[in-house]
Amino acid sequence: MKDFAGKILFITGGASGAGFGQAKVFSEAGCKIVIADIRKDHLDEAMAYFRDKKAEVHAIQLDITDRKAYAEAADEVEKVYGSPPQMLFNTAGVNAFGPAEASTFEDYDWVMGVCLGGVVNGMVTFVPRMIQAGKGGYIAATSSMGGFMGGSTTAPYSAAKAAVNNLMESYLQALKPYGIGVSCLCPGGIRSNIAEASYTRPKHLENTGYNINEKTIEYMHYHYSFGIDPVELAQILKKGIENEQFFIIPVPDPEKMLQGIVERIVNYATPEGMKRQVELMKKHMEEMRKRMGGDDGPMKGAAESGWLKARQDLTWVKERKGPF
Ligand SMILES: NC(=O)c1ccc[n+]([C@@H]2O[C@H](COP(=O)([O-])OP(=O)(O)OC[C@H]3O[C@@H](n4cnc5c(N)ncnc54)[C@H](O)[C@@H]3O)[C@@H](O)[C@H]2O)c1
Repeated sequence: MKDFAGKILFITGGASGAGFGQAKVFSEAGCKIVIADIRKDHLDEAMAYFRDKKAEVHAIQLDITDRKAYAEAADEVEKVYGSPPQMLFNTAGVNAFGPAEASTFEDYDWVMGVCLGGVVNGMVTFVPRMIQAGKGGYIAATSSMGGFMGGSTTAPYSAAKAAVNNLMESYLQALKPYGIGVSCLCPGGIRSNIAEASYTRPKHLENTGYNINEKTIEYMHYHYSFGIDPVELAQILKKGIENEQFFIIPVPDPEKMLQGIVERIVNYATPEGMKRQVELMKKHMEEMRKRMGGDDGPMKGAAESGWLKARQDLTWVKERKGPF
């Protein structure tokens, strides 16, 4: 897709971080935007920005895990803009990190409910409407590099993002006959408000096995300040959509990065490979420590803040050496 003028674009999580960046860039490209977000304060701030720009943007407060509310939001789009959207960006997401072995059912239900369930709800709500409108279109999900690998402290998040990658590939093939393109954006760090994700965690899912408190949230704000600028990321997404590229990975050499991922998977399949993988992992961790653990790097203060640790009463969880 190259022509965005006049297209209706529905963005979940569109009021903050990556989604707000997408709303800015695609609004400038001529789209009529809907930003859907669970946080009213984020929606108000974003709308103040767009009012100043006199941009065509409509805000809907929506929890993407609520299927009934999602259907009502889709009806609202048709009422406001006269048609279902031609474009859907499944961008809203949350994270909660800590040792996999400390994870609770509620950690899985919340993180996977938003990051994967929210995408499923977006697809089931909008895809039939988009097909029946007969205008083709484009769907992009904001996944994560975390979807290409499991991590000892990222289990629910990595599982959700891996599933999103796979899910979007299924839709890539299924929606081709309808003229609907599909992409999966896989960023590393983004300069966003995701440090505050736990503020939107519902009461009935508040039981976490991880150490999450004001200190870890303050540290995470610092950590994510090293990420890519959301507008720059949205420009990369736009270019990827113009090229109809499935994976859009904002690193200088995405092919080399993916070759490393494939090498890991291949290594896991034989006894010799498992040995090679141990060595590779050591090298990888060493490089990561150097890259991220420097005096002024994004991991500065991580261990002291208690980030990535288990809830303090889970004394059976082994202490890890350092943040990795
Ligand atoms: N921040 C990073 O380093 C990073 C890295 C890779 C991928 N991502 C992904 O990027 C996407 C955007 O995150 P961000 O970093 O811009 O964070 P952000 O917190 O700034 O923006 C996410 C928005 O989603 C909204 N949201 C959360 N739960 C919701 C729900 N149930 N229903 C509707 N809206 C909801 C939040 O209120 C927020 O406004 C997420 O899918 C995230 O997993 C983030």
